[in-house]
Amino acid sequence: MRSTAFSRPISVAIPSVAIVGAGAIGLSIAWRLASAGCRVQVFDRGLAGRGATHAAGGMLAACVETEPGEESLLPLTRASQALWPVFAAELEDASGQSVDLRREGTMVIAQTADDAAKVRFLHDLQAGLGLPVEWLSGAEVRRREPYLQPGVAGALYCAEDHQVDNRKLATALHAAALRAGVEVHENAPVTRIEGQGGQVVGLWVGDRLVEADRIVLAAGAWSAGIEGLPPPARPPVRPVKGQMVCLRMDSRLPLLRHVVWTPGTYLIPRLDGRLLIGATTEERGFDDRLTAGGQFALLEGAWRALPGIAELPIEEAWAGFRPGSRDDAPILGPTEVEGLVLATGHHRNGILLTPVTADSIARLILTGESDPVIRPFALDRFQPKGVVA
Ligand code: GLY
Repeated sequence: MRSTAFSRPISVAIPSVAIVGAGAIGLSIAWRLASAGCRVQVFDRGLAGRGATHAAGGMLAACVETEPGEESLLPLTRASQALWPVFAAELEDASGQSVDLRREGTMVIAQTADDAAKVRFLHDLQAGLGLPVEWLSGAEVRRREPYLQPGVAGALYCAEDHQVDNRKLATALHAAALRAGVEVHENAPVTRIEGQGGQVVGLWVGDRLVEADRIVLAAGAWSAGIEGLPPPARPPVRPVKGQMVCLRMDSRLPLLRHVVWTPGTYLIPRLDGRLLIGATTEERGFDDRLTAGGQFALLEGAWRALPGIAELPIEEAWAGFRPGSRDDAPILGPTEVEGLVLATGHHRNGILLTPVTADSIARLILTGESDPVIRPFALDRFQPKGVVA
């Protein structure tokens, strides 16, 4: 009979680790832990890297995405942004694959005088927080991106908000993890986390109990649906749907080089000529259907900024599920269940936060120490104050 009683501590020198979720977060933690000598198994309900990691845009936008009320995320997002160049280089070395880190920076353009007031407000907020943003005149924006619509009134520019090809990131992480000795199990949905005496024992994949000293729950939007956890250890994560569409540019004569934000839409030019346009934000559960309204809004928003897209072929359109937590910040660190660690709820920032999540969660498992940068993002922040679970 399966037990759900959690109450006894454990101590293990080199733990065996089971990770639920083979997205960028789960695979990067696995890669780090296996490189440090742990036995690591990763389980995914589908194919590795084909959930939110596949659907994302790959923007590493710690600065331009900062809006009023989101200041508390900055130490984490900026720390991860700073780690990205070395992380990418290490990963490319370990996997033998490129992740196409592009460093042109990001612009938030103002298309009209009304827009300019809003973008100026954002600029002043971000500059006031000490972020490396600058204001560009309309003429300067057009000099850097000549195919933007001629009336563009100016832009907020951040030279440190880069982008990476998230799909290449997924395949590189998968390869690096395998090379480091990780066992990656695809199409292997975890139905239940098993505990006994207050600590994790393993997880159930079909009718098989896989034993492990530590379990990392990194199942993105699916993290709340795994059975076996007492309510105080269950992460409050829900799917936040985002539709995207991808056009094909001539890679020798691209219409755009920077990541460009415009009201309601962003455009991400890839080195291979793809131009990603995103993204809707919808509360529709796990409904992954594309809608006419969603696709229309993306294409219209992009066309207003970059009229030349009217001639480009549509290559692909898709929807994905951001793992949104109750306060839209990630959930990182230990739980009251000994051996269960959470790395989920990354919402709009999963790709950006991959390096800091991988390093800090691996360190937590290897040393028992919680990095100060992740401490504010522990699950217990949702616990009503003064209530003992
Ligand atoms: N970070 C962009 C998005 O979630 O749409």
